[in-house]
Amino acid sequence: MENPFRNEAFAEVGSENGLLSFLYFYHALQITPVIKTGDRVLDIACGPANQLALIARLNPEAHFVGLDASANMLEQAAITLAQARVGNAELVFGDMSVLSGIADASMDCVICTMSLHHLPDLTALSKTLRAVRRVLKSDGGFYFVDFGRLKRLGTLRFFAENKRHLQSKFFTQDYLNSMRAAFSVNELADAVALMGLNYEKYVTSMASFMVVFKSKNRRVLDDTTRELLQEMYGQLPLAQRQSFQSFANWFRTGGFNLPCELLY
Ligand SMILES: C[S@@+](CC[C@H](N)C(=O)[O-])C[C@H]1O[C@@H](n2cnc3c(N)ncnc32)[C@H](O)[C@@H]1O
Repeated sequence: MENPFRNEAFAEVGSENGLLSFLYFYHALQITPVIKTGDRVLDIACGPANQLALIARLNPEAHFVGLDASANMLEQAAITLAQARVGNAELVFGDMSVLSGIADASMDCVICTMSLHHLPDLTALSKTLRAVRRVLKSDGGFYFVDFGRLKRLGTLRFFAENKRHLQSKFFTQDYLNSMRAAFSVNELADAVALMGLNYEKYVTSMASFMVVFKSKNRRVLDDTTRELLQEMYGQLPLAQRQSFQSFANWFRTGGFNLPCELLY
């Protein structure tokens, strides 16, 4: 991920009108009930902050810390946050498997989106989940999402190349590499269990394309948040709203429901 062209390609697909904006919106919607008013939320491996910016906008009463080990990504992240006029987030340089500089039990919530597959091996994965447990309060919330390792190369290629006509070749290659690097659902579950906290696990039906490990929701969405969600959803291009509905259905058939329905 240290190639700036690749970083830009990644930032682009996740941007407000990018190819993956439906996916970022989906996880922002699912993450929001895990966050409470006044929370300090740590986003480990925040990358260009596309996910972070959305969640911070949806949760203006919480404070966010985005952490990443790439200076170039953090530069992109600062631009994303400034463009989205996010005032409740800061960025820090750091390694998610250590989280040095983040005090014990200082976070009410920790999130990690599409980044655990960057860890080199199972030891680093366990180390990361232990570091998360160290910085998280015992009644804290969490939400981790990543690819689940798929067995067949053809399936990996199907997902990576499905929209190749709409995405850069850097992104297609990164997509494929990322899915190849993914941990299996069981490996992820074993690591999450190390935290010693209750968790819910959801996998996309039919193929473990994506897997979510999360704490129980910590609040019911209020009317203001629902209205904001509906407004943001309405601003997505039609194709993105269609992708959102298909994706939500994919996870729903794997047992993961939306915290509120959105009017199409
Ligand atoms: C695929 S991006 C995901 C970014 C963001 N979470 C998202 O959903 O768009 C993965 C990010 O993980 C970061 N990363 C990889 N290894 C890391 C580590 N050990 N500590 C912190 N960040 C790391 C990379 O720099 C990159 O920004």
